[in-house]
Amino acid sequence: MNITILGTGSMGRGLIKTLSPLHQGIKWVSRNREKVIDLVDELKVDVIPVDYELGLDADVIIHTFWFRDLIPWAEENRNKLKGKVLVDIVNPITLDFNDFTLDWGTSAAVELQKVLPKLKL
Ligand SMILES: NC(=O)c1ccc[n+]([C@@H]2O[C@H](COP(=O)([O-])OP(=O)(O)OC[C@H]3O[C@@H](n4cnc5c(N)ncnc54)[C@H](OP(=O)(O)O)[C@@H]3O)[C@@H](O)[C@H]2O)c1
Repeated sequence: MNITILGTGSMGRGLIKTLSPLHQGIKWVSRNREKVIDLVDELKVDVIPVDYELGLDADVIIHTFWFRDLIPWAEENRNKLKGKVLVDIVNPITLDFNDFTLDWGTSAAVELQKVLPKLKL
């Protein structure tokens, strides 16, 4: 099973540190290729830094985006995500952690499902 983690923020780094000792050949993607190469070196993790094109060629994709960036990204990559398992870790909360960014009665997963209706969530 091929796993890719998208993003090099707090959750991206945390997931890489946690999962890389448990699974061989995890791919790690950033919008900035040099950043992810430097981080692999700094964190001394056994993962493969790749670009988005290669990264989306995986069985399981774990994104670490904020909700505001997730939906535009999912719309743009809808076709490339077909047949993949997308793991969604979003908490749709404001930056000050005081409120939700979505109305009652919906969720980040529900909004994502509208964009990617046949995706496994
Ligand atoms: N389920 C949980 O337990 C849990 C806990 C904490 C946080 N979260 C969720 O995890 C997500 C990430 O949190 P975080 O603290 O890791 O955030 P963060 O440090 O800001 O990292 C987000 C990363 O998303 C990537 N990204 C991709 N496209 C982007 C775009 N268009 N604009 C900006 N960034 C983009 C960036 O990585 P590159 O610069 O490398 O591209 C960025 O570092 C949030 O949705 C948060 O709600 C979940």
